[in-house]
Amino acid sequence: MEVVIAKDYKDMSRRAAILIAGQVMGRQQSVLGFATGSTPVGTYSELVAMYREGIVDFSGVSSFNLDEYYGIGPDNPCSYRRYMAENLFDHINILALNTHVPNGLAADIEAECRGYEEKIRLAGGIDLQLLGIGNNGHIGFNEPADFFPAWTHLVDLAEDTISANARFFASPAEVPRSAISMGIRSIMAARRIVLLANGAGKAKAIKNMVEGPITPSNPASILQIHPKVTIIVDREAGAHLA
Ligand code: PGA
Repeated sequence: MEVVIAKDYKDMSRRAAILIAGQVMGRQQSVLGFATGSTPVGTYSELVAMYREGIVDFSGVSSFNLDEYYGIGPDNPCSYRRYMAENLFDHINILALNTHVPNGLAADIEAECRGYEEKIRLAGGIDLQLLGIGNNGHIGFNEPADFFPAWTHLVDLAEDTISANARFFASPAEVPRSAISMGIRSIMAARRIVLLANGAGKAKAIKNMVEGPITPSNPASILQIHPKVTIIVDREAGAHLA
């Protein structure tokens, strides 16, 4: 694992955007894995700025998002499809048909999950997967468990996650209780992984991920055995690292 301690949130975001832009410059048809949440918002605005400056062209890029809440549609303001439109897709030249987010309204969940994996496979696999990390060590919505879930699946969200995400909803009662998430194997199959974290609230999760035992009770710890991971944290999130 390569660990980079950035000066602050802006520096973390710029470094992440540079890695993503570099990936796209090296291969126009890159397949990017995107994450949602507060952490990557700055990275997406840096990418939008680079696009506007003519530095990076997304016309050949395909994307797959890690997850989507189950039971809410793409037009719901809290959906991850909407988040991606507002933070990135509507401001760059990626083709809408090349952007993929699990369908939170799928009637046949198993078919949706299988189909999602198949689309990733047909696209040639993910070149670079961007990740955040939950306070409880989740990546995507793979919550602490007694096994590592493999492929895209329906997840019951942990209470921790529901309370952490309640800030995006009118009330905690409105946070969906489940989500469709790429699994640990789907994430580990990416050729390169870039994980971001900022703020003191993430310091313990970062320390456990980098220095703790590899265990499904801390899903992010599996990244220790991925051959090409870059962790970019601000000083606060990196404060407990040895
Ligand atoms: P956050 O979420 O970026 O909103 O902190 C990260 C995550 O839960 O993976």
